[in-house]
Amino acid sequence: MSDSLVLKSLEDGILTLTVNRPDALNALNRQVIDALAAAIEAAQDQDDVRVLVLTGSGAKAFVAGADIKEFADFDRAQGEDLARRGQRNLFDRVEQSRKPVVAAINGFALGGGLELAMAAHVRIASSNARMGLPEVSLGVIPGYGGTQRLAQIVGKGKAMEMVLTAGMIDAASALDCGLVNQVVEPELLLETAQVVAAKMAKNAPTALAAAMDSILAGYGKEGYDMEMERFGQCFETEDFKEGTTAFLEKRKPNFPGK
Ligand code: CAA
Repeated sequence: MSDSLVLKSLEDGILTLTVNRPDALNALNRQVIDALAAAIEAAQDQDDVRVLVLTGSGAKAFVAGADIKEFADFDRAQGEDLARRGQRNLFDRVEQSRKPVVAAINGFALGGGLELAMAAHVRIASSNARMGLPEVSLGVIPGYGGTQRLAQIVGKGKAMEMVLTAGMIDAASALDCGLVNQVVEPELLLETAQVVAAKMAKNAPTALAAAMDSILAGYGKEGYDMEMERFGQCFETEDFKEGTTAFLEKRKPNFPGK
């Protein structure tokens, strides 16, 4: 169905899920999160699905983040709840999927969008992709596991640089620092992700699940709880009000620092 928020296509054991909200650069609002979570959950019980590929609709964006319009007037409790619900409902579900998830990053992967790609097990980027965690430029912090997974993938120093500068990096730099596994030309992106997925799909499903469990077992959980709490706290700052208002008004923020 083309009006669906998540498009699904199954071929040779590979289920490709496409976030389909191109007018908002595939930003993750509640409906998209629920639809994606439901699709991933359903795939767990489908014997004909061996590997998932996750991508974004349109040429411009994988996912440009959490939907800023949706949370701009949230208070602290709502902010913390947004992060908790999103993490439990979607991001944990991606990472803990019994079937490997390959992210095909076809453009901007920012904030929650990069966090989604980082919850996947492998990332392939098109050469025009741009990635970053710009949340501090909005007066908030990454809330969908980004402070944890970015440091796990690229190391603490690079994660600090990316989070604190709020800057974007291009696909070549992302490959350099290990944020993505491979970079290809845009027209080859989906095909390449599906080739990688097909290599995984040839292997024993039970062993794939056991391997992912084991690799992921080494990473603690307390950082995620800290992130949710600190994400919520940001919502009661004047900096957050200014940052989100400035984004919506398409101007630069002038942070009061409190
Ligand atoms: N939320 C809501 N709407 C978004 C969005 C987002 N994250 N990103 C883009 N959009 C919307 C824009 O508001 C715009 O809508 P209108 O046409 O109605 O004005 C449309 O998508 C197209 O975007 P732009 O006009 O901004 O396109 P651009 O080419 O000028 O810029 C961009 C592209 C650099 C990606 C810019 O859209 C951008 O900076 N987006 C926001 C990125 C961001 O800050 N993401 C982090 C969100 S916070 C988060 O994710 C928190 C968390 O961890 C839980």
